[in-house]
Amino acid sequence: MAIRRVFCRFQSLKIGVSATVAVYLVLTLVNFGFKRVVRSPRVVQNGESNLADYFEKFVAPHQQHLRKASGFPAKNESVFKELGDSKFSFSRTNNNRSNVLFGADVFADDSSIVNPPEMPPSLNLDEVPFMRDARFTRSKCPKTVSSLTKYSRWFRERFQPDIKIFLETSDVGVYSNYYKLLHFRQPFGFRMANKTKLTTIVNHPNFTDAPLNADGRPNRCLRCAVVGCGGILNGSGAGVEIDSHDYVFRLNRAISTGHYAEDVGNKTSFYTFFPESMHAQDVQDKNATFFYAMFKSYDLDYAINMLNDDTPPRYISRGKLFRLKKAKFDKRKLKIIHPDFFRYVFTRYLDTKANRPTTGAVVVFLALHLCDEVGIYGFGYDPRFTLHYYDKTFRSHTDKATALHDVDNERELWHKLHEEGVLRLFKRDL
Ligand SMILES: *[C@@H]1O[C@H](CO)[C@@H](O)[C@H](O)[C@H]1NC(C)=O
Ligand SMILES: *[C@@H]1O[C@H](CO)[C@@H](O)[C@H](O)[C@H]1NC(C)=O
Ligand SMILES: *[C@@H]1O[C@H](CO)[C@@H](O)[C@H](O)[C@H]1NC(C)=O
Ligand SMILES: *[C@@H]1O[C@H](CO)[C@@H](O)[C@H](O)[C@H]1NC(C)=O
Ligand SMILES: *[C@@H]1O[C@H](CO)[C@@H](O)[C@H](O)[C@H]1NC(C)=O
Ligand SMILES: *[C@@H]1O[C@H](CO)[C@@H](O)[C@H](O)[C@H]1NC(C)=O
Ligand SMILES: *[C@@H]1O[C@H](CO)[C@@H](O)[C@H](O)[C@H]1NC(C)=O
Repeated sequence: MAIRRVFCRFQSLKIGVSATVAVYLVLTLVNFGFKRVVRSPRVVQNGESNLADYFEKFVAPHQQHLRKASGFPAKNESVFKELGDSKFSFSRTNNNRSNVLFGADVFADDSSIVNPPEMPPSLNLDEVPFMRDARFTRSKCPKTVSSLTKYSRWFRERFQPDIKIFLETSDVGVYSNYYKLLHFRQPFGFRMANKTKLTTIVNHPNFTDAPLNADGRPNRCLRCAVVGCGGILNGSGAGVEIDSHDYVFRLNRAISTGHYAEDVGNKTSFYTFFPESMHAQDVQDKNATFFYAMFKSYDLDYAINMLNDDTPPRYISRGKLFRLKKAKFDKRKLKIIHPDFFRYVFTRYLDTKANRPTTGAVVVFLALHLCDEVGIYGFGYDPRFTLHYYDKTFRSHTDKATALHDVDNERELWHKLHEEGVLRLFKRDL
């Protein structure tokens, strides 16, 4: 996906900019210093088994301090579990401290709290349970992605249906949530991220943490297509089939104008991007919702400017000035992907030799969590086809390009998911 992403971008930004941005991306990936985890995903059932560990090792030592700060009795694990994880739903009203259970909201503007606790320890990515979406509702579709956990042990050990997908105001405003995010750097958490900027984002009038479907999950089976830019789509004539899905997910370069629509369709329900890959201008569909992936600290600035409807801030990296395109769409249709969701995809499904999941991997799992049935098109790096469906001349899949990310790992994952019956990988004979 990385190659795809780089080249997707390559095609579309103006030539000079694209080259420098590509170089920037390579340098960023090499130098970013994300915590490297070499272990395979640990087998955990919905985060239950390591919750106790996490509490004992990392939360309990802070209890004394937090209790002092909040003036409330120490809470035990079951209370934490209830409030910090699954059924978390308190709201802090009128500074009524009775409502503040685990960990006072110590980083908020509460002048009565003198000493905020120390920075939580930096942990391995699989040591902290994933947050749960309190508003999650199960699909009523008899055959859904979740039901595959009945038949596939591999999938059962990894899938957490109620994982938080989008960032909410309470992820920054409520300390027990924020605390968990402070163990990891972006994209897996907010360690080292500027709290003022995060607060600006989640409290912005154009930021919404309303659920995707205000009325809960639609009362029918949702069929979804995820469209990558793989050359396998060139000449496929799959456009009508793709558009026949309830939701169509696209990412990065998503050209669907003119004759491309025959091969890739032109419906876009959800478009996922990060600042350098933003091609909202390619999205024809006026009904699209936009999913934003924040990988690095600059992406917070970009988010603020997007919400303000300003042009993106410029930035200088290695002596080069970058000017990114302004995202032109209604910002109330913007959702920010939750850091835990990146961590979930990365630790549960990828072999974690890379530094982070690619946008493609994240989008496929977004679809698996939002839909009942998923087909993925233009994924899989088939060397018989050109790299991207919109290439003007044939481009091969080079080793140099694939070195950037662990592309083989992702290719294997798509095949594994196809084999396990979790999704359908679009394949084609010449
Ligand atoms: C923890 O708190 C819950 C709810 O307040 C209570 O029922 C339980 O007995 C407590 N457990 C321990 C070990 O104190
Ligand atoms: C604070 O909340 C508790 C429990 O929700 C309630 O019993 C109490 O009366 C509240 N106190 C104030 C001052 O609102
Ligand atoms: C965090 O962001 C705010 C607002 O942009 C800025 O004033 C402050 O200097 C930043 N803090 C750090 C430590 O960079
Ligand atoms: C795209 O497909 C057409 C035939 O369907 C073929 O003629 C053309 O060469 C392909 N483009 C590339 C870049 O491979
Ligand atoms: C999308 O494609 C359909 C045919 O596949 C066409 O009728 C429609 O006009 C296209 N819409 C846009 C916005 O291009
Ligand atoms: C956009 O959404 C509205 C309301 O859900 C619907 O009536 C309309 O047909 C949609 N338009 C397209 C192009 O999908
Ligand atoms: C929210 O976005 C709209 C455009 O979608 C913009 O006009 C407005 O200024 C933004 N609001 C704020 C408070 O920045």
